[in-house]
Amino acid sequence: YKRITTKTLVDMKQNREKISMLTAYDYTMAKIVDSAGVDVILVGDSASNVMAGHETTLPITLDQMIYHASAVIRAVKRSLVVVDIPFGSYQSDPKEALRSAIRIMKESGAHAIKIEGGREIKESAKRILNAGIPVMGHLGLTPQSIYKFGTYTVRAKEDEEAEKLKEDAKILEKCGCFAIVLEKVPAKLAAEVASELTIPIIGIGAGGGVDGQVLVTHDMIGMTHEFNPRFLRRYLDLYAEMTKAFTQYIDDVKSKDFPNEEEQY
Ligand code: KIV
Ligand code: NA
Repeated sequence: YKRITTKTLVDMKQNREKISMLTAYDYTMAKIVDSAGVDVILVGDSASNVMAGHETTLPITLDQMIYHASAVIRAVKRSLVVVDIPFGSYQSDPKEALRSAIRIMKESGAHAIKIEGGREIKESAKRILNAGIPVMGHLGLTPQSIYKFGTYTVRAKEDEEAEKLKEDAKILEKCGCFAIVLEKVPAKLAAEVASELTIPIIGIGAGGGVDGQVLVTHDMIGMTHEFNPRFLRRYLDLYAEMTKAFTQYIDDVKSKDFPNEEEQY
């Protein structure tokens, strides 16, 4: 196994090889995703929605993120594991941000952290990078700011917000971030950002002109049903497949088909 590092990702951009990234929050899923050969595994704060059933990413705690991250780390042999710093554990000041980043790295064994925002988190990003911790940025539709946006629709459609986003991307690159996630922005804008920066831009709902793609694993394998944005490609309908398996099991128990002669001692 040749381990993926932050340097590998920058090299991949230079070689025009697209970067693949998926989420995982637990050992069993991380094992499958890593073995399949995905370049980056994100322990996203989307665990708040997918694992815990919250409506937003805001409620998940730093302790809960560390729990998910340490389970993922135990499974991974090749992928680069990036962990989200959750809402409320970096905004107060850069020292709090560094403390949270250190806890994630030390207690989970993660390889890098991700933090939402541009100029607002510049000092925090610098401080974390100064401690030797790789930082991935996240711009566009940043879900921790959903109550400020008031909507999950595409961001940066107007010139003013698009200009700010471009400047923010440059600020993050200058700080030393190794990559940036761009979420739900026009494809044209995302492609421009990717061409103007040397660090990889990983898109979700940001078109094909960027350096890589990320999706939430549970969405792309169809385990979740309620979430249907245009950018989501479903590779499986696991919700239907699992429902079939569970109803068959129930039938087999009720009909006494399970267990049979061989399935007992
Ligand atoms: O938490 C998450 O899953 C994310 C990705 C959607 C980029 O931040
Ligand atoms: Na996230």
